Amino acid sequence: MATQPTWWKQAVLYELYVRAFRDADGDGHGDLRGVIERLDYVRDLGVDVLWLLPLSPSPLRDDGYDVTDYCDIHPDYGTLDDLRDLIDAAHARGLKVITDLVMNHTSSDHPWFQASRRRADGKADWYVWSDDPERYSEARVIFTDSETSNWTWDEVRGQYYWHRFFHHQPDLNYDHPDVRSTMLDVIRFWLECGVDGFRLDAIPYLYQREGTNCENLPETHAFLKVLRAHVESITPGAFLLGEVNQWPEDTLPYFGDGFDEMPLLFHFPVMPRLWKALAQGDAAPIRWILERTPAIPASCQWVVFLRNHDELTLEMVTEEERAFMYAAYAPEPVMRLNVGIRRRLAPLCDFERPRIELLHSLLMTLPGTPILYYGDEIAMGDDLTLFDRNGVRTPMQWNDGPGAGFSENPTTYAPLLRGATAPQRVNVAAAERDPGSLLHWIRTLIATRKRHPALGGGSFAMLPSPDPALAVFLSTSEDDAVVAVHNLAAEPRRLELAVPALAGRRLRLGFGGRLSQDAPRGTEATADAIPVALEGHGYAWWSPAEAPA
Ligand code: NOJ
Repeated sequence: MATQPTWWKQAVLYELYVRAFRDADGDGHGDLRGVIERLDYVRDLGVDVLWLLPLSPSPLRDDGYDVTDYCDIHPDYGTLDDLRDLIDAAHARGLKVITDLVMNHTSSDHPWFQASRRRADGKADWYVWSDDPERYSEARVIFTDSETSNWTWDEVRGQYYWHRFFHHQPDLNYDHPDVRSTMLDVIRFWLECGVDGFRLDAIPYLYQREGTNCENLPETHAFLKVLRAHVESITPGAFLLGEVNQWPEDTLPYFGDGFDEMPLLFHFPVMPRLWKALAQGDAAPIRWILERTPAIPASCQWVVFLRNHDELTLEMVTEEERAFMYAAYAPEPVMRLNVGIRRRLAPLCDFERPRIELLHSLLMTLPGTPILYYGDEIAMGDDLTLFDRNGVRTPMQWNDGPGAGFSENPTTYAPLLRGATAPQRVNVAAAERDPGSLLHWIRTLIATRKRHPALGGGSFAMLPSPDPALAVFLSTSEDDAVVAVHNLAAEPRRLELAVPALAGRRLRLGFGGRLSQDAPRGTEATADAIPVALEGHGYAWWSPAEAPA
């Protein structure tokens, strides 16, 4: 049986776009050496795992999710030796490193595709070709703003090719045994370079079958099981995180029996409902999705997030919810992209600290392993004038100098932010100097979460609440428990809360924000009568007095 580590249940991930983080060689693009220079910063956040966005050579028409060589590093980012040095430097600091693995498709510039369109080099069938663009017509288009069909005509071959994303990203044909075995070799290559695992991009779409929506097919699960066994045979216990943007019941099968498919999967549908609950001042959307979320094998874990490098996806919400979310968070059309919202976390919260804190408190106390997206810890803004998702991928703001501490080159791969969120106003150096900054608060938050084995590693319940505005989460493990109370409303809430599961236990207030100052606010209580006294968007974490603070 596969080994099953559980350290990652209590881990926190940091998602980092290498091109955006730090430019060590002055060419205007961030690089692996730059990440090495900033590893102490990452370690000091308290995170455990770095997720690096795609590293391989690519024309970067989809920021590296369009690969032209699976076994090398993009020259702007450095070399394989740089990656090995980065992994060593990260490991020396107790950090693990995972990279994106983009299996579903390549760039149309990839030599495999170039050969396939000429029916050359034995690659004629490495991609999905057809004379008929009506095939697989039940499959939805994902990038609705850029593509109208999943088929594009190729002049050279005289046939259409299949692509679930941009037309310059042809899907590989997983019915071909050489494609499968080559991808397993690619996986071996990166594991032997020392990576600790992968974020597996777009895995629901590997196969196509007529009469289906071409998502979550049995053949896809069968290949992922082969992949998992292969990974285990090379790096037992590797961190494998599947990107499956589906409803919980469709996502569940990707955990397999707990040992034979994905150990970790994103919980996509919970994310928009955190935002919706915040906008509504009502915890109901969170309860709704958590109640719809099936139990998962004990050896597996959800991975949760507030924002990432893509648009805030609204694929897994109802039409009514989507309309509500657009009205609340993307009133201007320029803020929308595909089926989602292309803004960063802080602008979505109108840069208001209480809402930013509340969302993070929810994130850290939900069931699962949380991910932070680079720059959100200093409340970076976005640039809506940039194309597609580029506005949330701008250079990291380290200081108020001319290149923001990102680059010494006056021309950077994307412009630095201007105006109220320019590096002169928002940067790491300033946040370091200010003890009350969001950055310091995030460090405290992560440290507090990690002192509580119940968070991430324990069992979870969303408790009934006497007030619909309150989300009350109970996490328990053998020696620990956390009752996290979140006030989604903008108005204060005051009441006594009973947690029967901890009846009679003495609790202590360990962590909180926006606690009412005028209430007789104890920091000790029994679980039968926890005094909730929160300002709008306040939160409080209570734990048994003998548990870690
Ligand atoms: C999901 C990635 O997160 C996104 O950035 C990318 O464009 C698509 N997959 C296609 O690879």
